[in-house]
Amino acid sequence: MNSKIVSWRGRRVWVIGASSGIGAETARALQLRGARLALSARNAQALQQLAGNHAETLVLPLDITDPNSVTDAHRQILAQWGGIDLVLIVAGTYNKMRADNFDLQQAKQLLATNLNGPLNCLAAVLPMLLAQGSGGIGIVASVAGFRGLPEALIYGPSKAALINLCESLYLDLRPRGINVYLINPGFVATPLTAGNDFAMPALISAREAAEKLIIGIERGEFHIHFPKRFTNWLRVARLLPYRCYFWLIHKVTGL
Ligand SMILES: NC(=O)c1ccc[n+]([C@@H]2O[C@H](COP(=O)([O-])OP(=O)(O)OC[C@H]3O[C@@H](n4cnc5c(N)ncnc54)[C@H](OP(=O)(O)O)[C@@H]3O)[C@@H](O)[C@H]2O)c1
Repeated sequence: MNSKIVSWRGRRVWVIGASSGIGAETARALQLRGARLALSARNAQALQQLAGNHAETLVLPLDITDPNSVTDAHRQILAQWGGIDLVLIVAGTYNKMRADNFDLQQAKQLLATNLNGPLNCLAAVLPMLLAQGSGGIGIVASVAGFRGLPEALIYGPSKAALINLCESLYLDLRPRGINVYLINPGFVATPLTAGNDFAMPALISAREAAEKLIIGIERGEFHIHFPKRFTNWLRVARLLPYRCYFWLIHKVTGL
C-alpha cells in the first residue's frame, strides 16, 4: 500500500517522541541501520544521550503542544538536510480516566498532546512533503482507538481520531507519492504503561515494538499493528455488534 524500503542508509528520519519507549527504540534501531536521524521530544538530555557520538544526528527538543517549537525544529532540519524522507510522530501520553473521575483539565491536556500535537506536526511538514512529492509520515495511534474501552475515556478518543486522520491522509497523500503509515501497538512495556495495575495481555518490549514498526514500514504496509496475536483479536472485536462487543469487554476486563 506504500512503497517498500530496501535500505535505510542515508534516509533522513525525524522521530518526534524519541526520548523514551517506542520512539527511543525505533530511533536506536534506525541509527544502527544507517539512517540519518533528527530526534525530538521535551527531554533534551535523553535525546542527547540517544544521539551519543553520532555527530550527524540532530537533537531538536520541542514540546509537541506548542506549534512554534515544532515549526522551529522543522525549520532547523530543513536548513541542515533540505528535506525529510520520513516523519514519525510517536509522542503521546496516557491517563487512566473513567466517567466517575472525569477531569476536564486532564482531558484537554491529553488531547493537546495526543491529537493537537500531531496536528501541529502536520501543519509544519505537510507543505514540505507535498512540495517534495516523496517521503512519508507515520503516526503512532493505538488499538485503544478501535472502539470504546474502560479506563480510556479520553485516551481512546484521541487515538480513534488519529486512526481516522491517517486514513484520510492516506487517501489524500498516497496519490501524491507520499507514504502514510498508521501504527497501532498493543501493550508495550514503556514508562507509559509502567503504572498499569492489571496484567497486560501479550505485553512486548519497546525493542520488539520498534522492530515490528520498522519491518512494517520496510514492507510498505499502511496499517502496522503488533503483536498480531493480540491486535488481530481486537480487529475482530471491532466488527462485533454493540450488544456483543459491550458484553465481551465487560467479561474480559471485569470492568
Ligand atoms: N506503551 C504502550 O503500550 C502503547 C500502546 C499503544 C500506543 N502507544 C503509543 O505509543 C506512543 C509512544 O508511547 P510509549 O509507550 O513509548 O511511551 P513513553 O515511553 O512515555 O514515550 C512517550 C514519548 O512521547 C514524548 N512526549 C510526550 N509528551 C510530549 C510533548 N508534549 N512534546 C514532545 N514529546 C512528548 C515523550 O518525551 P518527553 O517526555 O521527553 O517529551 C516520549 O518520548 C504514544 O503515542 C502512545 O500513546 C503506546
